[in-house]
Amino acid sequence: MKKLIKNGTIVTAADTFQADLLIEDGKISQIGTNISAIGAEIVDAKGCLVLPGGIDPHTHLDMPFGGTVTKDDFETGTIAAAFGGTTTVIDFCLTNKGEPLKNAIQTWHNKSKDKAVIDYGFHLMIAEINDDVLNELPYVINEEGITSFKVFMAYKNVFQADDETLFRTLVSAKEHGALVMVHAENGDVIDYLTKKAVAEGKTEPIYHALTRPPELEGEATGRAAKLTGLADSQLYVVHVSCADAVEKIAEARSKGFEVWGETCPQYLVLDQSYLEKPNFEGAKYVWSPPLREKWNQDVLWNALKSGQLQTIGSDQCSFDFKGQKDLGKDDFTKIPNGGPIIEDRVSILFSEGVKKGRINLNQFVDITSTRIAKLFGLFPQKGTIAVGSDADIVIFDPNIERVISAETHHMAVDYNAFEGMKVTGEPVSVLLRGEFVIRDKQFVGKPGSGQYLKRAKYSMYTPLNQNETLSI
Ligand code: URP
Ligand code: ZN
Ligand code: ZN
Repeated sequence: MKKLIKNGTIVTAADTFQADLLIEDGKISQIGTNISAIGAEIVDAKGCLVLPGGIDPHTHLDMPFGGTVTKDDFETGTIAAAFGGTTTVIDFCLTNKGEPLKNAIQTWHNKSKDKAVIDYGFHLMIAEINDDVLNELPYVINEEGITSFKVFMAYKNVFQADDETLFRTLVSAKEHGALVMVHAENGDVIDYLTKKAVAEGKTEPIYHALTRPPELEGEATGRAAKLTGLADSQLYVVHVSCADAVEKIAEARSKGFEVWGETCPQYLVLDQSYLEKPNFEGAKYVWSPPLREKWNQDVLWNALKSGQLQTIGSDQCSFDFKGQKDLGKDDFTKIPNGGPIIEDRVSILFSEGVKKGRINLNQFVDITSTRIAKLFGLFPQKGTIAVGSDADIVIFDPNIERVISAETHHMAVDYNAFEGMKVTGEPVSVLLRGEFVIRDKQFVGKPGSGQYLKRAKYSMYTPLNQNETLSI
């Protein structure tokens, strides 16, 4: 059935304007005033912003990690994402050394297929490079539409890859048109520092942060950026937490290297002191990279505003406090790393960013949706409000105030890292390809209705048509 969204303010990465929007067959078919749509359902968006659905480029749903499995799976995680105004997630598909990539990808299809309530794609972890892996990459890119690879520079003896693997992944990505993502921390030095701390009896959560200092994130970021320049390839640094890393990204970009950076809500509003909370509560705030000293927050906000960082991911990687985080009660190295954020990513960026004047409304849309679609081969199907794009729409009330709490969130975990935080602005209704998933703050979607997205190859910004030339 056709739908006509009326009386709202449409916001894209470029423009803010009053107009109505007609949806037909899951796509946006008209934008304008006085649209006549006989037989269309009228959706009144008065007083609301009409935004492109959020795209979360960084989630770990139903993922084995840290001796356990993340609590939110593709059903609970995507329901929570939808409540928060996100209509697409790109999740990390893990691989095991020696296992065909095809099998690993099938495992992720099995986890997601009948569960996701919003659309989704996968990034693929590269654990090693050998002939088998190189031979499979064309299948991964061309058949599966997986056009981004993830290399971990940390988590020694678990996920960590060596520099040869990173470099050869960069070279292959250049050849095939993929974007290489890195978790940039120096895993070898962290391994030494954590073992030393534990041997000295330093086992509380705060030592998680103290054994992963910002210098080690800066060093790894700079190393990955240098290797990217050498390979003439393209790099996306996930979960940037500190000034040391921002500096290295800015330096690489100033040399013309294609290096992009993502940060996450936790690094923008929480800080290292949270790890010192009593009664082991500090474990709720254990992420890698860790939360940093508070002054880093201004650096991250300024980098988002100036464009040195371009996106915001949730790094959704949720574990219960009781029964999962407490695996590390006597040893911080056993606390599963990560937290539940998928639901509050968009709201926090709007409230702390737009409402507090740190970024403008169009930057907010760019950072939470449009730029992500462009970098990860989804634009213009996703990430914007334009005729022909999927009707993934968020009707967002910019003035509602609410308090974030585990009592009201929809994630499957027993705590919320932002508990008690007041935010202004909330999605009221969310549509995926023209169908309501959230309607008047109620979930009306269906597990399995999310579609797997085969993504286009990496190209810097919007690809030009073959015959098109840039006019200056
Ligand atoms: O602590 C984190 N970030 N957990 C998720 C895994 C990762 O490193 O992204
Ligand atoms: Zn990571
Ligand atoms: Zn992550």
